[in-house]
Amino acid sequence: MNFRSLIPRSAATLSLALLGACVCPGLALAQETPQPQPIDAALVARGRQLAVAADCAACHTTPKGGAPFAGGYAIESPMGAIVATNITPSTTHGIGGYTLPEFQRALRQGVRRDGTHLYPAMPYTAYTQLSDDDTAALYAYFMHEVKPVDQPVAETKLPFPFSVRASMAVWNALFLKDERFRPDPGKSGQVNRGAYLGNALAHCSTCHTPRNTLMAEELGKPFLSGANVGPWFAPNITSDPRHGIGGWSDDELVQYLRTGQVHGKAQAAGPMAEAIEHSLQYLPESDLRAIVAYLKQTPPVSGGTASGGGAAQGGGTARHAFGEASHDEVALRGLKDVDPGWRVFSASCAHCHQENGTGTSNGEYPSLFHNSATGGDRADNLIATILHGVDRTVDGKPHFMPAFGDVASFTDRLSDQEITDLSNYVLTRYGNAAVKVSLEDVRIARAGGPKPLLATAQPFMVPAGVLVLLVLIALVLRRRRAKRARRTF
Ligand code: HEC
Ligand code: HEC
Ligand code: HEC
Repeated sequence: MNFRSLIPRSAATLSLALLGACVCPGLALAQETPQPQPIDAALVARGRQLAVAADCAACHTTPKGGAPFAGGYAIESPMGAIVATNITPSTTHGIGGYTLPEFQRALRQGVRRDGTHLYPAMPYTAYTQLSDDDTAALYAYFMHEVKPVDQPVAETKLPFPFSVRASMAVWNALFLKDERFRPDPGKSGQVNRGAYLGNALAHCSTCHTPRNTLMAEELGKPFLSGANVGPWFAPNITSDPRHGIGGWSDDELVQYLRTGQVHGKAQAAGPMAEAIEHSLQYLPESDLRAIVAYLKQTPPVSGGTASGGGAAQGGGTARHAFGEASHDEVALRGLKDVDPGWRVFSASCAHCHQENGTGTSNGEYPSLFHNSATGGDRADNLIATILHGVDRTVDGKPHFMPAFGDVASFTDRLSDQEITDLSNYVLTRYGNAAVKVSLEDVRIARAGGPKPLLATAQPFMVPAGVLVLLVLIALVLRRRRAKRARRTF
């Protein structure tokens, strides 16, 4: 699985050949009979590994049995659902007609074959750093190994003004840093490799970096300092020992990225579980070590609203180090006037996480203390785990916790009030007791997470636009009338 060792020379040869065939038709025409290009098996194999590292399937293959890369998966964005397109080499419904330069432009500049702009739900802001060789390998894989599927996908229909794709040109001018990855000569080869893997391919920052009001990743200091992903929160993963991952050993981080589970520290649910299930677990260990070496030398970020280090963070304790076992269950059983959160815990959680929150000794059911979901300065991942559960398959083995917010499950379903009480109980007994969950927090999480300003402003944009127009018309009319009035005198 080590795609570094595979001969880059062949990639260069093929990309040159493809460029010859695609960019310079004159060159191709000059030959008497154009020979079909031989398929470079090593290049295709490298492209396959790159597609895994870049997790193209996460969005372009519908979960639970969709044809590979046939699209159709609606990615929830605060602006509305954006449908991932069919990127099989189908000439009727996929990218079969794309030339290599067109494919590279889609990946690195977010522009489709027909010249229209893609929404940044397609992570071209990260893929823009991909090298020519790697985009050529990806192209070879998609064209020669992925099976064409002649199947349309639903059209993305965002509300005005987001429906105007051309507006993305302005957004790109402001926020797309259209540059290939350049190794930092002051850093080791391993750190540079990790930076390329993490930033260009695995696009960690698209989830872990806070976004500005126009939904672009903040540049500079807040890099990787934590951000909302729907109802989840991708925590600060800078090298800060308290707010980030500086307190984890390299081996623990590698284990987390490969399996999503480190006893006494953290588990991966939600979007992180998906990244591990579909992509990170398949990376060679040397690549995971490179990513970790890179993370460990990122500038530490602490404090700030999004850093996992807000006002509620107690003392110098890292989020994975909070709490201890409790003996409430035994003490409270049978008592009438008990904490309503304890009742929910006792009925819905204790049979797996144990009555004192220690989990099982094999770690299959984790402890609720020394757990980054309960020790942070925010409860997003605790609430989201209760609502959506955990569903992560690694090495063919499922790790599963039921979703208690699921409408389909009438027996287990918990109300917003029950989840509020339960969260506060868990935080007080096992986690960061300074964090309090309100009914509103749970309501927002159930509705898909906090909405950025841009999205909340959308319903007012059309009326606001109309208002501005009316004011302008009124002003013009007044000036006209004034002019006419002056003329009559
Ligand atoms: C996080 C989700 C996500 C990931 C990961 C992702 N894509 Fe996409 N991609 C999308 C979405 C969504 C669209 C459609 C966007 C739109 O309609 O504006 C898209 C569109 C495209 C298009 C344009 C196709 C067309 O003509 O409509 C190409 C090509 C593409 N992706 C290739 C890739 C490749 C190759 C990878 C992996 C290296 C990848 N994508 C990974 C979400 C993703
Ligand atoms: C699709 C969004 C997404 C992507 C991509 C992503 N992450 Fe995450 N990550 C999350 C979320 C959400 C969590 C919290 C998961 C939980 O607690 O269940 C998380 C948790 C983590 C944690 C555990 C932190 C803790 O204290 O529990 C680490 C470490 C991490 N991610 C590293 C990475 C790295 C490195 C990459 C890139 C190789 C990456 N992530 C890519 C969303 C993402
Ligand atoms: C059927 C068993 C089961 C039940 C019931 C259960 N859990 Fe879990 N829980 C799990 C498993 C399994 C995991 C994930 C282990 C892993 O990822 O390796 C988990 C993980 C968690 C996590 C860590 C999630 C993260 O993202 O870091 C929290 C917090 C949690 N559970 C809280 C609860 C609460 C609160 C309840 C009661 C509503 C509950 N669990 C009920 C099995 C269960």
